[in-house]
Amino acid sequence: MENSFVKGGEKNNNHQPPLSDAQSLSSSHSHEHQASIKYLNKYQNSIENKEAFWQEQASQLQWSKPFTQVSDVSFDKNDLHIRWFADGELNVCVNCVDRHLAERADQPAIVWEGDNPDHSISLTYKQLHEEICKLANALESLGVTAGDRVILYMPMVPEAAFAMLACARIGAIHSAVFGGFSSAALADRINNCEAKLIITADLGLRGTKSIPLKASVDEALTLAEGHSVDKVLVVKQPHGSGTPAWNDKVDLWYHDCVDNQSTEHTPPTFDAEHPLFILYTSGSTGKPKGLQHSSGGYLCYAQTTFKEVFDYRDGEVFWCTADIGWITGHTYLIYGPLAAGATTIMYEGVPNFPTLARFGEVIDKHNVNIFYTAPTTIRMLMADANTALSGSQRTSLRILGTVGEPISPDVWQWYYDDFGLQQAQVVDTWWQTETGGHLIVPIPDSGPVKPGAAQRPFYGIEPQLVDSNGDILEGETSGHLVILDSWPGQARTIWGDHQRFIDTYFSTYEGMYFSGDGARRDEDGDYWITGRVDDVLNVSGHRLGTAEIESAALTYSDIAEAAVVGYPHDVKGQGIYIFVVAKTGVESAETLTDSVRSKIRQALGPIATPDHIQWSPDLPKTRSGKIMRRILRKIASNDFAELGDTSTLADPSVVDKLISGRKDLN
Ligand code: WTA
Repeated sequence: MENSFVKGGEKNNNHQPPLSDAQSLSSSHSHEHQASIKYLNKYQNSIENKEAFWQEQASQLQWSKPFTQVSDVSFDKNDLHIRWFADGELNVCVNCVDRHLAERADQPAIVWEGDNPDHSISLTYKQLHEEICKLANALESLGVTAGDRVILYMPMVPEAAFAMLACARIGAIHSAVFGGFSSAALADRINNCEAKLIITADLGLRGTKSIPLKASVDEALTLAEGHSVDKVLVVKQPHGSGTPAWNDKVDLWYHDCVDNQSTEHTPPTFDAEHPLFILYTSGSTGKPKGLQHSSGGYLCYAQTTFKEVFDYRDGEVFWCTADIGWITGHTYLIYGPLAAGATTIMYEGVPNFPTLARFGEVIDKHNVNIFYTAPTTIRMLMADANTALSGSQRTSLRILGTVGEPISPDVWQWYYDDFGLQQAQVVDTWWQTETGGHLIVPIPDSGPVKPGAAQRPFYGIEPQLVDSNGDILEGETSGHLVILDSWPGQARTIWGDHQRFIDTYFSTYEGMYFSGDGARRDEDGDYWITGRVDDVLNVSGHRLGTAEIESAALTYSDIAEAAVVGYPHDVKGQGIYIFVVAKTGVESAETLTDSVRSKIRQALGPIATPDHIQWSPDLPKTRSGKIMRRILRKIASNDFAELGDTSTLADPSVVDKLISGRKDLN
């Protein structure tokens, strides 16, 4: 399929109303850049007959008890509730596995590609079913029951998929924690969700690096005083250390618990609103929040968006490179593809092991038709394109997805032209942990594509741009991105803190979901996401709150103040820049840089390691003591030309000191 695309900055003179005014677009204008009539009609119908649209999508799941009410939703902050298909009952695991057995028992469900290019395993739906049943039986025998929380701190191995689905099968709520998070971050999550059980592995493998996951769990349990974890189930990796430190009262080898279990398990059914999982993500303030997702609505949304956005065709092979520690790894590595009966690839390693040619090689090896990755990875491949493109043909590719951060037009173009050989359509998918699945994306055949733009709302989704008063802006404009009405895949609450959920997402602009992102809408009504408008960084597609990094730095006893900002980074998208002020009396603070860096790393994990640490005698503050981050962002970005108005600073001379400190660091 060929993309007809429109260049990013190109302007045209015909003013077009915003896409939400689909009627006038489709009926009265004929325009080379407008969305296809087919898409517009379906979109318009999904908005006008929203309940019927979602009823139809949900009917493509297998319900043990059909629902009679489609939605029961209020975005009013005084009565916030979000319920979909609420009186229906289903089992998520049955929908992802059992119901495919009649027709697809011998079709590969998960193809696992090891870190080592010689290691791969193909698991059919039948084999996947058996493995999940064994683990479900094992978990039940360990006393895990519906509603219990199970933390998954796992490498990208098949057992991670078994664990998610076995939890879903017995109604336990899984909470995956990315293996790159530190033991301290893990301890916070263990305590916050009051986990009963942890599933981990002795080691994780990424390229040539081994990650001592089990040892981190041990540390986390020491840190998480008064925790409620009974057991830790440990997957033994073939390349493992053999004998990690062991506590007989708590630790169990996964294979010892699972191997002798029956391969049959009778699945109970659960309410559509039964929590399926909790996933922690960073916000602009406080500790990470555990977004709680539902069973019926989430799965309906995962399945629908998977099929539509990737134009999935029966028998195709799909590869999402995300780690299961992130929402993308939940919705588009496990739940979406398996609900749709697809073959999903799970890759253990990293893009550049043994070389940067690996992704292309894996695509050829498994005949991948649909490939889904992040701009940070594409930039990494692009930086050494000769290697990245060598040794593979990639002719099986039909659709290329991107997610996690804005993709710049040149990176988009390389992905389309060079990686996808101009044969695969690019879909830039905008969404969030909170949204459960794609919200804005140019689905295949929805009209011309614009490199760098997420463009069009998915069916049933009503985006808008608002100004700082919450007034809806019309036409070609920029503003804060909000969603006016609910969709089935949306998170239901923050675990244990419903008020924080309301305050964070539904109180800034009344009656609307506030995404925290800014966007521009162009003359064709297409959306261009510009990035976070709050104090959240996006580092290699990973969300990190500046406040979290600052508090980690402040635990260092020699530091009086810290301020974290992002700056443009060639590969990561945003790099982490921290300005620190030493306490009075601390001498040669610069020599402490490395230990501050390792302190932050220890507190949060390698992904939060600052790229630059700048010591400064002071921070730029207003007279009321508020740090002017705008100035810090400019300085971190080496952009000293337009610092804006600095006259309101309590001490304007601080700026020159910061600039000369920045120059010294270069
Ligand atoms: C950003 C990842 C531009 C955005 C699924 C959002 C994007 C945050 C895109 C959510 C995209 C995600 N274009 N920006 N296609 N996709 N983002 O929760 O800032 O890890 O708010 O979910 O990533 O990150 P999260």
